[in-house]
Amino acid sequence: MNKTKVLTGITTTGTPHLGNYVGAIKPAIEQSWRDDIASYYFLADYHALIKGRDPKRIHQSTLEIAATWLALGLDIDRVTFYRQSDIPEIAELNWIIGCMTAKGLMNRAHAYKAAVQANDEAGEQDPDKGITMGLFCYPVLMAADILMFNAHKVPVGRDQVQHIEMARDIAGRMNHHYKTQFVLPEAVIGENTAVLNGLDGRKMSKSYENTIPLFVPEKKLLKLIRKIKTNSLEPGEPKDPETCTLFQIYSAFADADSIAAKRQQYADGVGWGELKNELFEFLNGYLQQPRERYNTLLEDPAFIEQTLLKGAAKARAEAAPLLAAVRHAVGLRPLA
Ligand code: TRP
Repeated sequence: MNKTKVLTGITTTGTPHLGNYVGAIKPAIEQSWRDDIASYYFLADYHALIKGRDPKRIHQSTLEIAATWLALGLDIDRVTFYRQSDIPEIAELNWIIGCMTAKGLMNRAHAYKAAVQANDEAGEQDPDKGITMGLFCYPVLMAADILMFNAHKVPVGRDQVQHIEMARDIAGRMNHHYKTQFVLPEAVIGENTAVLNGLDGRKMSKSYENTIPLFVPEKKLLKLIRKIKTNSLEPGEPKDPETCTLFQIYSAFADADSIAAKRQQYADGVGWGELKNELFEFLNGYLQQPRERYNTLLEDPAFIEQTLLKGAAKARAEAAPLLAAVRHAVGLRPLA
């Protein structure tokens, strides 16, 4: 059977939070159990260098993200789970396809345009102030990640769809000019995966500093849930679940019957304090076991390192022959 290859990367700049879990990690792990799919999940640590220059943070984030996926039950025998920077073939492919990528295409990338716009709005003389070649060429590296494994489907957030289109464009040019056979990848946006709100009611995101990290200790979890913004309705007054962050988070984890029961509690006017305590009890129960596994894993970085190196060997077994074919196609060939 020809499996559909699904590939996605996680930038190693932070600590995984509930929003990451619901929006990306959980669907990815579930999908990895399907027999018609070959999954490639990787830690995008080269991409992390674009966003931050704190070596300790990137290093720690790599450890935490790897431990998170493993603690949540990712089966590394079923998937290819690796660290981007362990695959030198990606860096080489990045260069080769960069030479087939129009600069004008990169000028149109949202991330770059947003940075230019920010400079403009700040009244900067130089529109490119503070913008690195890493940021500018970010979509090329992402295309290399994807084309390296001939991925068919790439699950991403909406903000990344343009990059997948660019990867298609680059693959098309390569195929047209060099007669390579890159698969043209497609973006997959999780239409029914929830986007969680954070403590302040805006989308849960590291950049808003409103996240609930997935594996915080119990006490801290309770503290954070108590911080979630609600309105000033008193106990006894009916409350609207649809506009409530507590309800939204609950719904992302609970089954349909429990959600219906929770909705009734809102109609009955249960107080915010009680709803918060209940959300804590529920989430804490849900996270307890993986949290224990996570903490055990964090104490054994050598095991995680080994796991990643095994994943890298598996990934390189595919990447190396593909790169060899590409080198040959573009004329980087032995002389005799
Ligand atoms: N840029 C992606 C993000 O910030 C992460 C990423 C890197 C990625 N390489 C990728 C996602 C390849 C999908 C495919 O979310």
